[in-house]
Amino acid sequence: MTDLRERVTDQELKRELQRRLDDARARTLSLISPLSDEDLLKQHSPIMSPLIWDVAHIGNFEELWLVQELGDAMPISPLYDEMYDAFKNPRRERAKLPLLDRAQAARYLGQVRAAALDNLWRADLGSKDPLTRDGYIFEMILQHEYQHNETMLATLQFVADPGYLPRLPAPRRASASVPDMVFVEAGPFVMGTNDRRVAYDNERAAHEVYLPGFWIDAGPVTNGSYLGFVANGGYARREYWSAAGWRWVQETGASAPQFWEQSQGAWVVNVFGHRLALNPPEPVQHVCFYEAEAFARWAGKRLPSEAEWEKAASWEPEGRVKRTYPWGDTPPTPEQANLDQLSFHPMEVGAYPQGVSPYGCHQMIGDVWEWVDTSFLAYPGFEAWPYREYSEVFFGDEYKILRGGSWAVRPGAARVTFRNWDYPVRRQIFSGFRCARDA
Ligand SMILES: [Fe+2]
Repeated sequence: MTDLRERVTDQELKRELQRRLDDARARTLSLISPLSDEDLLKQHSPIMSPLIWDVAHIGNFEELWLVQELGDAMPISPLYDEMYDAFKNPRRERAKLPLLDRAQAARYLGQVRAAALDNLWRADLGSKDPLTRDGYIFEMILQHEYQHNETMLATLQFVADPGYLPRLPAPRRASASVPDMVFVEAGPFVMGTNDRRVAYDNERAAHEVYLPGFWIDAGPVTNGSYLGFVANGGYARREYWSAAGWRWVQETGASAPQFWEQSQGAWVVNVFGHRLALNPPEPVQHVCFYEAEAFARWAGKRLPSEAEWEKAASWEPEGRVKRTYPWGDTPPTPEQANLDQLSFHPMEVGAYPQGVSPYGCHQMIGDVWEWVDTSFLAYPGFEAWPYREYSEVFFGDEYKILRGGSWAVRPGAARVTFRNWDYPVRRQIFSGFRCARDA
């Protein structure tokens, strides 16, 4: 009996993984379907890949793990393994490679997927091998595709006028009033996770962290608040900026978030080619770490640490339990968080009262990635797995952490323990922040 039940569960899991693999591919292809062949091959920004590189790289990463590793197969083409290796080819060089075109990439992706699905149906998901147990390696491949979809969206913002011009859904308005800050009392909480089903190596191990009491913004910083900093001459006043931040302002001449434009005395935001009037209650987006830091100083606050962010997002103080999401352990619904890419921008602060954390923090998952004042470092008990190049090679002071996931994150890659990182100067990503303050 046990055997039969396990086999049914295994089949169900495989069916679900196949469904999600299909869904991920449909999304990837739908993102590029409106583009001309020329726009697919073009380098739209020196810091982004040509979109067609991302597409074939998604296929190549799937081939490496689900076909070569799982099926012990020879490479379909050693040239592809070379060309679509992110470490061997910096983004600004990728347009010079003899990249597969749209039709060739589609054929390659189809060939890889057919072999990958064969291996899925052959795999032992009840195995002791952590690579296949509970379908881990398939989850990793899914998340990789989701994450590249987000990177592709960041590139799509640079498509020349008139732009990518997606259909924008009706904006979701605030339905709850959100306090300025909430208090998180002193005490220990559990940071990170021991999950081996979906979590990346850098989210492990779960470990107890003691934090003194602190205040944290109940919502992400809004366009309206950020406009106050801009209008107050924030970008021209040295005292708000760190030394590195001030150097960045001088070098770039930045005077507002990326994609903000002035039109007849009013601010408009360029959303994939749509010029929208700046909406004050929406979270500010496309700011770099230095801008977040300077705003916080101007506001008499500071950025939260990574641990403070995670405690405020996930700790349930009465039961002393850690949640997977601010609202509990059930997967995100559209009522709880702005995720899954098709909103194309963040929604107003206060629009998701059903997604609030036990401490009363709104929109910690979805809308915008939130910069925190912590470098990307290993947790105690960290072990690189299944490859060093996902996390370990990036550990160090060069990168700052972002938490929570943006509107461009697919729900399968959203959770309170997920750690994103980038250079502190980056702002083409869907990044915002919230502030904190000592008790
Ligand atoms: Fe990748």
